[in-house]
Amino acid sequence: MTSTSTLPPPKDTFTTGYNKASLDRYAFRNVQTCCTYLLPYLSALPPNFTFLDLGCGPGSITADLASRFPDAHFTGVDPAQLFIDKAVALAAERGVSSNTSFIKGAVESLKEVLGDKWGTFDVVHCHQVLNHIKEAVAAMQTMKGAARADGGLVAAREATTTNGDVFYPLLPGIAAWQKLTGEIIGAQKSGPVSGLGPRLLEVALGAGWRREQIKAGASSWCYSEPPEKKMWVESMVGMLQNKESDWYKKAVGTGVKEEELEEMVEAWKEWEGRDESWCVFVSAEVVCRNG
Ligand SMILES: C[S@@+](CC[C@H](N)C(=O)[O-])C[C@H]1O[C@@H](n2cnc3c(N)ncnc32)[C@H](O)[C@@H]1O
Repeated sequence: MTSTSTLPPPKDTFTTGYNKASLDRYAFRNVQTCCTYLLPYLSALPPNFTFLDLGCGPGSITADLASRFPDAHFTGVDPAQLFIDKAVALAAERGVSSNTSFIKGAVESLKEVLGDKWGTFDVVHCHQVLNHIKEAVAAMQTMKGAARADGGLVAAREATTTNGDVFYPLLPGIAAWQKLTGEIIGAQKSGPVSGLGPRLLEVALGAGWRREQIKAGASSWCYSEPPEKKMWVESMVGMLQNKESDWYKKAVGTGVKEEELEEMVEAWKEWEGRDESWCVFVSAEVVCRNG
């Protein structure tokens, strides 16, 4: 089931933009790479639990969860119609259409979008979404309200930096990409730019849970094998060369020259080809219990 909300689009804080490069990168995500921290909680619930995946993107995590928990129902919400269409198609491809629903909508309009499902979810989850939302505390309060008041869970996993923690070797073109990404995000500095991850526990406390209602932890992505590095570099090159993308337009808006963007492309390709290259991204995780 897919429905389309007529509510206004969210504020433009999704710096990655909506394009094939980001789509391909998110499609690489699944339960194993993104939310093993959730599995013990989901396994402890009655099998017919309900799960809301806020900012579900192209639905690769949602569909994987739906195939692992066939008696549960998964609702994905995302403001991008492109992602909703991909998520619906992926669910059909994976044979999980019957226990998934995808709805166009944003956290700012979640209550209206969910209608009578508001306040009923056993689990409300988001993965790498709060980093793109200016009002993270308000967003978590909204997630809290969407979950059951009596024991509903709210889970979030957010990167600790928004332009990568470790890239080795840090070739000059990659350092330039990191600086440019920092400028696009608005931090105006080189090196890793702090994301929401370090503050995730603080944000959860700000949203109203007591400390004893929250479990906090962390996990990482490491791209060291050729297919992982290929996926990452194809995504980077796609963003750096797609002149129509939001990201490219924002990059050019910082004053960076086309030749400099091409140097970054060459640096990523060289990095991919080196046997010793790898990268690491650390993410913070919280699971908060209502009631
Ligand atoms: C980095 S992607 C993560 C997608 C997916 N959760 C994953 O990990 O594969 C961020 C997602 O947040 C969505 N998003 C951006 N602003 C949002 C908002 N205000 N409310 C809900 N989702 C939003 C984007 O459309 C995008 O799909």
